[in-house]
Amino acid sequence: MRIGQLLGAGRSADVYAIDEAWVLRRYRDSSDATPELAVMSYLSACGYPVPRLGPSPATATPSDLVLQRLTGPTMLESLLSGALTEDEGGAMLAGLLTDLHTIPARVSQDPEDRMLHLDLHPDNVMLTPDGPVVIDWRTTAEGPPALDRAMSSLILAQVAVDPASPAAAGARSLLKALLPHLADRGGVPAPHLARAKRRRAMDPHLSPDELALIDEAADLIGELAG
Ligand SMILES: Nc1ncnc2c1ncn2[C@@H]1O[C@H](COP(=O)(O)OP(=O)(O)OP(=O)(O)O)[C@@H](O)[C@H]1O
Ligand SMILES: [Mg+2]
Repeated sequence: MRIGQLLGAGRSADVYAIDEAWVLRRYRDSSDATPELAVMSYLSACGYPVPRLGPSPATATPSDLVLQRLTGPTMLESLLSGALTEDEGGAMLAGLLTDLHTIPARVSQDPEDRMLHLDLHPDNVMLTPDGPVVIDWRTTAEGPPALDRAMSSLILAQVAVDPASPAAAGARSLLKALLPHLADRGGVPAPHLARAKRRRAMDPHLSPDELALIDEAADLIGELAG
C-alpha cells in the first residue's frame, strides 16, 4: 500500500491519503483500532453517518483503519470561518447526538444503553457535500445517552472557560445554542456531568492547564442550562 499526503492529524492519530477514495488512519502510539472497526461497521449498517470502511491491505497493522476519504471542512473549521453559525452548529451537534442515541446497543443487554461516541465535538464532525459525518470513534462505548450529552457539553465548556483559547467566545456561544436542544432530550443531569468530569480528568491527552479548567467548565454548564 502506498501512503500519500498527510491530510489531518489529531492528538492520537494521523490520517493519510491512499487515493481519491480512501484514507489510512493510523494511531501514533500503535493503539488497537479493531474495536472501533466493529462499531463503525454496525453504525454504518444502522444508517448513521460514519466514514465507510475500506479494504484493509495485507500490510495493515491493528492500529490502521482504511476509511472512506471525506471531503469538506470540519465543523470547527466552518464555525471559525463563519460559514456555519453557532446556532446552526448547536442544532447540528444535538441532532447528531440524538440520532446516535436512537441506535440500540450492539453488545450491552441493558435496554436503556445506547451507542455513545463520548468525544462528539466540532473537530470530530466533517461537513461533507452529503451532510455531516462523525469521525474519530476512539472513545466509543455503550451506556446512557446523558453521559454522551455531558461529555460533548463539557468539552465545549472547557474551551469556553479557557482564557488562552482564541475559540473561547465561539465555544461559549455554541454551548449556549446546544444546551436548549439537549434539554428537550433529557439535558445534562448532574450525576452524568460528574461522571463526564471524572472521564475528562483521566484523559491522558489533556494538558495540566486543561485539567485545571474542568470544574469551572462544569459550573458554566450549570449556569447556562439555568
Ligand atoms: N475519513 C477521513 N477523510 C478525510 N480526512 C479525515 C478523515 N478522518 C479524519 N480526517 C482528518 O484527520 C483529522 C484527524 O482525525 P481524527 O479526529 O480521527 O484524529 P484523532 O487523533 O483521533 O483526533 P483527536 O485529537 O480528536 O483525538 C481530522 O480533523 C480530519 O481533518
Ligand atoms: Mg479527532
